[in-house]
Amino acid sequence: MPALPDPKINGLDWKPDSPLSKITTMGVGGTADALAVAHSEDALREILRLARAQGWRLFLLGGGTNTIFRCDRFAGVVLKLGPEFARVRLDENGLLCAGAAAPWSAAVNAAKRNGVGGMEFGAGIPGQVGGALAGNAGQKGWSLCDLLDSVRGYDYSGEPAALRQGEFAYGYRRSDLARFVLVEAKFLLKPSDPFVIETKMQEFLAIRREQPVGQRSSGCVFKNPEGDHAGRLIDAAGLKGLSRGGAEISVEHANFLINKRGASAQEVADLIDHVRKTVFERFGVQLELEVRLVE
Ligand code: EPU
Repeated sequence: MPALPDPKINGLDWKPDSPLSKITTMGVGGTADALAVAHSEDALREILRLARAQGWRLFLLGGGTNTIFRCDRFAGVVLKLGPEFARVRLDENGLLCAGAAAPWSAAVNAAKRNGVGGMEFGAGIPGQVGGALAGNAGQKGWSLCDLLDSVRGYDYSGEPAALRQGEFAYGYRRSDLARFVLVEAKFLLKPSDPFVIETKMQEFLAIRREQPVGQRSSGCVFKNPEGDHAGRLIDAAGLKGLSRGGAEISVEHANFLINKRGASAQEVADLIDHVRKTVFERFGVQLELEVRLVE
């Protein structure tokens, strides 16, 4: 008997005993009781309602670029939105509408094609629009929630939700939108020349090239503490290149943890704990996680 029975919802793919390493860029973790992929809003509403009614643990995953599963078994449902939620278009009011499952890079490229600027700082940042909004992703002082006109989605009991800019709080790498399952976001961008947009995108892509891109990681592991940089502190503590089994602190950028060779969830978690402890002992700074570490 599987741990959770297939609820047989129309438009919902149900994959029991699903490996977590395959759905995150860090590539560690055991298995989830089930991976559910919703292909329609009806299916999404139904699984949210059912999980609530049954008391199932439910974890919403976007592109899996900022989540690390440190458990051997996720006792519950990992929920993802299917490609039906990945459309990006310019609407009749000139707003850029992106499905929550659209890669952020697709939204950035669509903005360029349509000659609307402001999103260039997203160039090269992996992940999906929904996850980027939940964590208010960004770089160099720019962040995605600043660009929002409005969002639409559901709360975790399956009730529809629609919020406009100003109706939710957000800050550095955090946003109240994480309390919802977003399905669509509308961005208010400014008309701009695609050539100018492309030039700005290249500047941001150059920043990313100094980071360990192309290797298995979750991007920056820790938030920057007020007035300093987690990467600088970890580097100054002499931790670059330190490894536990197959997991290693990047020699290129100390706030990146790399899964070099088939690391286990435990090795990754041990390194994270070690970094926190060492930085606190050396500098008295408590590093706060930027990644979502799922127990
Ligand atoms: N530094 C070191 N050693 C390192 C890494 C950095 O000494 O190993 C020093 C640098 O020399 C520099 C300072 O730390 O003086 C800042 O480094 P960097 O410019 O790389 O920026 P960051 O604060 O480490 C932030 C974001 C990145 C984003 C970059 C570029 C956070 C936690 N990180 O990094 O975002 O790409 O700025 O804008 O806010 C992410 O969120 O996943 C991420 C990668």
